[in-house]
Amino acid sequence: MAALIIQNVFAVMWVINMMMYGVANGLSMNYYMMTCPFAEFIVKNTVNRALQSDPTLAAALVRMHFHDCFVQGCDGSILIDSTKDNTAEKDSPANLSLRGYEIIDAAKDALEKQCPGVVSCSDILAMAARDAVFFAGGPVYDIPKGRKDGRRSKIEDTINLPPPTLNSSELIRMFGQRGFTPQEMVALSGAHTLGTARCSSFKNRLTNFDSTHDMDPSMDTQFAKTLSKTCIAGDSAEQPFDTTRNTFDNDYFNALQRKAGVLFSDQTLFASVQTRGIVNAYAMNQAMFFFNFQQAMVKMGAMDVKEGSNGEVRNTCRVIN
Ligand code: HEM
Repeated sequence: MAALIIQNVFAVMWVINMMMYGVANGLSMNYYMMTCPFAEFIVKNTVNRALQSDPTLAAALVRMHFHDCFVQGCDGSILIDSTKDNTAEKDSPANLSLRGYEIIDAAKDALEKQCPGVVSCSDILAMAARDAVFFAGGPVYDIPKGRKDGRRSKIEDTINLPPPTLNSSELIRMFGQRGFTPQEMVALSGAHTLGTARCSSFKNRLTNFDSTHDMDPSMDTQFAKTLSKTCIAGDSAEQPFDTTRNTFDNDYFNALQRKAGVLFSDQTLFASVQTRGIVNAYAMNQAMFFFNFQQAMVKMGAMDVKEGSNGEVRNTCRVIN
């Protein structure tokens, strides 16, 4: 009994600590307050400027942060360029359509001028993704900082990224292994409210789908025609995930209800009874989606972060020091 009370007291203290200082995994909300007080401002300015001239890059930044965190943790490993001795993560087929690296470079350049050697590339990417969500009309939220940059970026590690052929149970298992609940997985998938997929990511749904179906039966037949039409232009032809590709809203979940999800891994969230209730809730209640999304993003942003001598603050985001 006494042990239980002590445990509860500690839990409450931890929550209070989190609220006051925003400390999680050694990260903190005001990490750069003394060393680079304008860090957040500089990143936001750089992101806003880039997105004003190309709003489609909001999607790219959010996806880049996800692909960073799921491989070796949020350590900026996605930003490293390949060398003659090492093929880096960014050259994996799963990452070839990532864009927006120049925005991170621009923010890093500006930060190096203000406070050299202080702000990590992984923190810049995490802040940029957060700012992109807000720019596109999504929720505003604070993220803890203090991630160090990793020294490893290998193509083979990208095996940890989910392919679009996974069904709901497989997604639940894969995200579960990384500590996410099914609800958090569905909320994070809601990032597909932004951006597009290329035909190569969904064409398997259109012909020879499985032994009994030519087309994926979870798809609306009219929408299947839309996807087929997109694919006439070739493998890299793009299909927006929802009707508002540059706006962060809950329209993606409405699309799933209409059986107009672009990827198999999108539509399965509605097709499966395990996750359909969550999709319906987010389709009905955008505020609930926004709230759960921001919480899940903060959690994703803390995945396997490197601290102290486990990492470094890279001088250039594309090259290990
Ligand atoms: C649930 C498992 C997921 C799968 C299977 C998946 C798969 C994909 C695929 C195949 C694409 C299209 C790539 C292309 O064809 O070029 C894509 C795009 C995208 N993904 Fe995911 N994704 C998942 C989760 C996430 C998460 C958790 C986020 C962020 C939090 C995210 C953010 C995005 C964004 C924003 C795009 C559009 C990128 C652009 O237009 O440039 N995805 N995803």
